[in-house]
Amino acid sequence: MFKLQDKHLSFLMLLTTLVILGCNTTEPIVKAESIHGKSVESIVQSMTLAEKVGQMTQAGRAHLVRESDIRDYNLGSILSGGGSAPDVNEPAAWADMVDEYQDLASQTRLGIPLMYGIDAIHGHNNVYGATIVPHNIGLGAMGNPELVKALAALTAKEVRATGINWTFSPCVANSRDERWGRAYESFGEDPALISLLGQAMVEGYQGSALNAPDAVAACTKHYIGDGAPTWGTGNNGQIDRGDAIIDEGTLRTLHLPPYIEAIEAGTATIMASYNSWNGVKLHGHRQLLTDLLKDELGFEGFIVSDWQGIDEIPGDYKSDIITSINAGVDMVMVPGITRGSGEGYREFIKLLKEAVNEGSVEMTRIDDAVTRILNVKKSMGLLDSAYANDRSLISTVGSAEHREIARQAVRESLVMLKNDGTLPLAKDLSKIVVTGRGADNVGMQCGGWSIAWQGGMGDITPGTSILEGVQEMVSSETQVIHSLTGSDISGADAVIVVVGESPYAEMHGDRAELELDEDDIQVINRVKSSGIPMVVVLLSGRPMIINDVLEDANSLLAAWLPGTEGNGITDVLFGDYAPSGKLSVTWPASMDQIPINWKDSNYSPLFSYGYGLTY
Ligand code: GLC
Repeated sequence: MFKLQDKHLSFLMLLTTLVILGCNTTEPIVKAESIHGKSVESIVQSMTLAEKVGQMTQAGRAHLVRESDIRDYNLGSILSGGGSAPDVNEPAAWADMVDEYQDLASQTRLGIPLMYGIDAIHGHNNVYGATIVPHNIGLGAMGNPELVKALAALTAKEVRATGINWTFSPCVANSRDERWGRAYESFGEDPALISLLGQAMVEGYQGSALNAPDAVAACTKHYIGDGAPTWGTGNNGQIDRGDAIIDEGTLRTLHLPPYIEAIEAGTATIMASYNSWNGVKLHGHRQLLTDLLKDELGFEGFIVSDWQGIDEIPGDYKSDIITSINAGVDMVMVPGITRGSGEGYREFIKLLKEAVNEGSVEMTRIDDAVTRILNVKKSMGLLDSAYANDRSLISTVGSAEHREIARQAVRESLVMLKNDGTLPLAKDLSKIVVTGRGADNVGMQCGGWSIAWQGGMGDITPGTSILEGVQEMVSSETQVIHSLTGSDISGADAVIVVVGESPYAEMHGDRAELELDEDDIQVINRVKSSGIPMVVVLLSGRPMIINDVLEDANSLLAAWLPGTEGNGITDVLFGDYAPSGKLSVTWPASMDQIPINWKDSNYSPLFSYGYGLTY
């Protein structure tokens, strides 16, 4: 008969206390000797299951049940989702926040620092005052890999200035259907151009060495076929996260090349995509995640899931975990309240440990995932010295030098679709009217993923609006009038009408119709009836149906989503720079042509792939 003795009671009390505290540590908490200089292999061998599973877990900062969970659950990564900023959205506050999290990570037995991930996809776009550069569709029109690399490098500096070391970028989607709300995150529809620019972006982010003080780990996304779904198969009945119903040849020809180039460029991580391929969710697709990406292409970094991406696999949460990890996902983004207990990462960790202990997930799979993650951390210099946040880069955030580089990208991204000679405008006209929703609207220039996940209209962050660009450009004798609705334009020598799309992101941008908004059309009609020369500037994340506008306008410029430096547009409007952008997407003549892409049979768009005028 086993008799409970005092020592048993005290151990049980300790264990009970730990369990009540919700701690995840029922394993030895003796501090390991330093991991600095140790091989990844030896570190992995020394790790407990809880430590391994912790490294595979990425929690959202806004969803931490307790910040000390970073320590108690051995979390390997934290992320900021779109717009998830500290209370005070300024660089030093971001850096302080990340330092706090890293300090908690340093208190774990092994003290492995965090990778902190964020969507810095067009500049450090969540941070107030940062330089926001053109979204990818504009960079596709620019077609300048050296400048793309420079934009990524300035972004990396601004990201590191805030203590963050990982960006969920570049998106190398091949967007096949303009109705998709993420069309602007794609460089275009030609896999060769996407590959060239995606590679340049990876090189710009990661620099010459991942452990450099101004380098960040890249995350090429979303693997694979995010831009391929058929309209009507989306989660929302439209297209985002839908089903890519294409054969393997098409998948390999149109969607795989950018990943081959990104791996060549050394992308540290790749993000799995929400979409399905012929009915099977990518997050659970072993053939594509492991057989193709890891085995055939030799990808040695790690695969991170998308935001609760594994939840969309059919089945309960535990089976989602087993399916996705066995398929090849190495780190799971468990930001929010996941199904089950609703405790997100805590639930994930509990269930994954259960799955390993019951044999549903082999320890060899866990060790492979953790080895991949720690290899990346090793290359980032995170395993060989105590984490130190280099604050010297803070002055680069939104600096004049960075804004000048962004302004050059804006100039080169513009595509002139029509010009009867009205452009370039003279700088000494006596009266110019600037009108339309986008005339004085940095938020509309930036589009989605800007300060907030969905972006926002108006003065969301410091920048130069098109109106301000005009005011800077013209002579002191020129009268510049800002008229939102174009009502008072009498006597003007020229009217600049800035119209297009209000900001959106992801599924919130899926649209069955791509005509201009009614109030934009009213402004254009008002100016048209005046007979005054009209220059239309279109701020949009994709081609729109503009046939009538094209008739009415003397000149029309596709400016895409240029970001904070709107003076790059006025540089072209007034002739300091000639427009040089070429369409990286086909411009449809009507909605019933969509989807329409270069090399389609009976290809008769409004403007072909590669079209663009100059002076
Ligand atoms: C989003 C997006 C992905 C982004 C991630 C983290 O849902 O699909 O592009 O990197 O979540 O914000």
